[in-house]
Amino acid sequence: MGIQTIGIIGAGQMGSGIAQVAASKGFKVILNDINEEILQGSLKTISKHIQRSVDKNKISAADKDQILERIRTTTSLEEFKEVDFVVEAATEKVQLKLDLFRRLDQICSPDVILATNTSSISITLIATATTRRDKVIGMHFMNPVPVMRLVEVIRGFETSDETYQTVVQLAKELGKVPSEANDYPGFVANRILMPMINEAIYALYEGVATKESIDTIMKLGTNQPMGPLELADLIGLDTCLAIMEVLYEGFSDSKYRPCPLLRKMVTAGYLGRKVGKGFYEY
Ligand code: CAA
Repeated sequence: MGIQTIGIIGAGQMGSGIAQVAASKGFKVILNDINEEILQGSLKTISKHIQRSVDKNKISAADKDQILERIRTTTSLEEFKEVDFVVEAATEKVQLKLDLFRRLDQICSPDVILATNTSSISITLIATATTRRDKVIGMHFMNPVPVMRLVEVIRGFETSDETYQTVVQLAKELGKVPSEANDYPGFVANRILMPMINEAIYALYEGVATKESIDTIMKLGTNQPMGPLELADLIGLDTCLAIMEVLYEGFSDSKYRPCPLLRKMVTAGYLGRKVGKGFYEY
C-alpha cells in the first residue's frame, strides 16, 4: 500500500512547512502539537501560503481546499495509530525527543518508520528510545520547507538500508532532493552553516561592522539569498544557539563556542522573526 498518511509532530515553522508540502503532494497528514492554539495558528499559516499559489494561478481554489482537507490536526498522539510514517519536528530538546520516540514506539504500528527533522541531535541517540532502531532516521528539511529543495537524510548507527531507501523515495515524492549524511554533530548542513552565522554574530559583537554591513557584504559578496544575521532571524536564534551548543559539546572544540551576544539575545527573548524581533524588527 505504501505511505498514505504521514504523522507530523510539531506545528511550528518546520512542522507546518512539512505538512503543507506533504498535503500538497497528495498525502494525508495528521498534525500533532501540544495545544489547539498552535495547531490553529499553523493551519492559518499554511492556508495563507497556499493562497499565494492560488493568487499566482499556480493552483485553483478547489486545489487549495483539497490540500487543506488532507490535514487533520490533533493534540493526541494516540491518533498516530493510523499513520504510515512519522516525521517529528518538535522543539530541539533531547529529553523531549527521547520521550516522544518512546511513546511513538508504543503507539505506531511496528513497521512504521520514525523520522526526525532534528537539525543536530544524534539520530543514534534518539533511536535508543525505541525498540525499532533500524527504522529511526533523520529527515532534515530546510527552512522555509515549501521553498527549499534539500532534505538531508541522516542514518543512525543502526538505520537499515530499507529505511534509508524508503525515506529517499518519500523525499523525492515530496518534490525534494535527498542527500545523505552520517550521524555526527550538526550533520553537514548545520556543521557548515552555523559556524558561519556564529562568526557573523562575533563580527557584530566585536564591532567589526554593523549588522546591515555584515549582511550586505555576505549577501552581495558571496551571492547568498540572505545575509547571515537575517538568516539567523529566519531560523530562530534559539535554534541557532541550540545547534551551536550541540557542535561545541559534540566536538569539544572551542571553534564552535557560541557567541556571548547570541546567548544574551536568546535570554532576552530576541528569537528572530517568529517573535517579531531578533537582529532586526519584523
Ligand atoms: N513559506 C512558504 N513559501 C515561502 C516562504 C515561507 N516562509 N517564504 C518565501 N516563500 C516563497 C514565496 O511565496 C515565493 O514563491 P514563488 O516563487 O512561488 O512566488 C518564493 O518563496 C520566493 O519568495 P520571495 O520572492 O518573497 O522572497 P525571496 O526571493 O527573497 O526568497 C527565501 C525568500 C526563499 C527565504 C530566500 O531568501 C532564501 O532562500 N533564503 C535562505 C534560506 C536558507 O538558507 N534556508 C536554510 C536555513 S538552514 C535550515 O533550515 C537548517 C536548520 O536546521 C536550521
